Amino acid sequence: TWTDKGSYPNFLLKEINEQPQTSRAAIGALFSPVAEGSAADWGSALDRSAVKRVCFLGCGSSYYAGQVAASFVENLARIPATAEPAAEFTQRDPVVEPDCLYVLISQSGETLDTLHAHRFLRRHPVQVLSIVNVRGSSLDRESDASIPLYAGAEVSVASTKVVTNMQIAGLALASWLARADYGSKSAALLELDLALPILPTILADLLAGQDAEIRALAESVHAFRSMYYLGRGPSWPVAREGAQKIKEISYIHAEAYQASELKHGPLALVDPDHVSVVVAANDAGGQQSATLIGQIQARGGAVVVFSQHQDYEFDAPTVRLPAVHPLLDHIVMGVALQVFAYHTATILDRDVDRPRNLAKSVTVE
Ligand code: G6P
Repeated sequence: TWTDKGSYPNFLLKEINEQPQTSRAAIGALFSPVAEGSAADWGSALDRSAVKRVCFLGCGSSYYAGQVAASFVENLARIPATAEPAAEFTQRDPVVEPDCLYVLISQSGETLDTLHAHRFLRRHPVQVLSIVNVRGSSLDRESDASIPLYAGAEVSVASTKVVTNMQIAGLALASWLARADYGSKSAALLELDLALPILPTILADLLAGQDAEIRALAESVHAFRSMYYLGRGPSWPVAREGAQKIKEISYIHAEAYQASELKHGPLALVDPDHVSVVVAANDAGGQQSATLIGQIQARGGAVVVFSQHQDYEFDAPTVRLPAVHPLLDHIVMGVALQVFAYHTATILDRDVDRPRNLAKSVTVE
């Protein structure tokens, strides 16, 4: 069952390893033509033609998942999309745009900051959609349209399998927006349809086949007290979530930056006591990543690389991940960074299920 550790030493490792199964459940339902959770279900409550922008709102890992989802919407549907922490949104007395679809994302459906943003939006004449894991939670009950996540209960404080399914839900939303725009399915959507069923297998192979390699990389960084996670484009929110995870469970200070921003300030902190995790998706930026790595090493900084380039070698310790599809690759990268954070934390003997100072769901302001 979801709430029994079984043979795993902790819930975090169990939940990381459930992802082949939980991602398959989400893909099966969210991309089916009819199932509960399919676009036929939540999409019928929305007016696609009125959507000119999408704004994702959530807290913590759910905010970062929203930022990844925003990049999916822009990429597939060519609709401008952004993400913002839910509490910041309400606190800045925002201009609520009538042609913007607001999407609230939450694992628990009980995070007060997210509920406040939802209640605020519902007082305005705008379309609101929720992406929520816990059925029957406050956010779920208060929503006219919501995408369920099919991840099962998540017990460990650090979110893993739910973050992955939030990104799959982001893809489902992006596909729905794109399809309604182009009438029939574009080549990009057909490609995604073909690749999606392979994702759970890719995750299973990664979890079984690359665990030892990732653990070795974790061994090499666990003694550092400060880390950068560097990614470009859609890899940046993936890097942000990676840095969040390592902070939460290993207590190593970690910040994510866009790779291009390193030279504009953060480079000042790079020295032999500092390690950078380079998140290199299989994009056209292989040479840029090589240059970035050189810039860090020239200042004596340590570097480790998670690369999806299939024919590009970096001059630094590298875990090479499979590249299957330009959008799904980000989800695979996210899972590899979860495994990396997990090993780093267990090498440091942290209580990974109950990190200090944190709660699974924050129901106060
Ligand atoms: C807490 C947890 C985070 C989580 C955030 C949002 O701060 O420690 O791991 O991402 O809440 O939770 P939600 O349930 O709304 O996704």
